[in-house]
Amino acid sequence: MLEPSKQHIIDQTAAFVREKFLGEGSGHDWEHIRRVWQTTRALAHDTTGANVYVAELGALLHDVADWKFHGGDEEAGPRAARTWLTSLHVEEEAIQRVEAIIREISFKGLGVATPMSTVEGELVQDADRLDAIGAIGVARAFAYGGHKGRPLHDPAIPPVQHDSFEAYKTNTAPTINHFYEKLLHLHERLNTPAARSAAVSRQAFLEHFLAQFLREWSGEDLPPV
Ligand code: ADP
Ligand code: NI
Repeated sequence: MLEPSKQHIIDQTAAFVREKFLGEGSGHDWEHIRRVWQTTRALAHDTTGANVYVAELGALLHDVADWKFHGGDEEAGPRAARTWLTSLHVEEEAIQRVEAIIREISFKGLGVATPMSTVEGELVQDADRLDAIGAIGVARAFAYGGHKGRPLHDPAIPPVQHDSFEAYKTNTAPTINHFYEKLLHLHERLNTPAARSAAVSRQAFLEHFLAQFLREWSGEDLPPV
């Protein structure tokens, strides 16, 4: 249980973010934030030494001004979080930890390491990544691809490994490529044992979905013509 003043800040932040993200259509909606918040709390339960207050604020604010929707400006998120938390008179140290979470959380390409500098950040990154795999992860990938007008799949465009954030950011490949370029590898890049354990069935589903998708695409599940 958080002390009442901290719980009040969490509640106000949840209401602020909910209002901002309700009805967003690209997979970055309030329900994504709510799940990441809930998963962060569950992971914190199983992780010693985490400041749950900072972790919850980080979860709620992690996508507050994502570079993908702010002309590539990677400082837009930390800046928006600082403005909001300052208005609530949150202490400077907590603000800095939340800013670090937002700065460090994103996947930046298979060839790019994305270490988190705080244990709270490790929890939020794991929660965000768990929401990108499993059945929900599949749904979100196609929602994002649809939002960007991408084809589902094109066997003539092979997946690639991105070795820089710039290359990852500017990629416009079909959605199935995103499975090879990111989603299938997230389970190897989780920080906490609790998240690794939750990832097992989500990973199995992801692999099963992909195999079935490719079977249907090639027609190999149909009688010969
Ligand atoms: P992260 O927080 O790990 O950086 P993102 O914000 O990049 O995650 O992605 C949010 C959601 O959008 C995820 O479910 C992710 O799989 C999906 N997504 C991001 N880029 C693509 C893409 N190029 N194609 C399909 N889905 C994508
Ligand atoms: Ni997210």
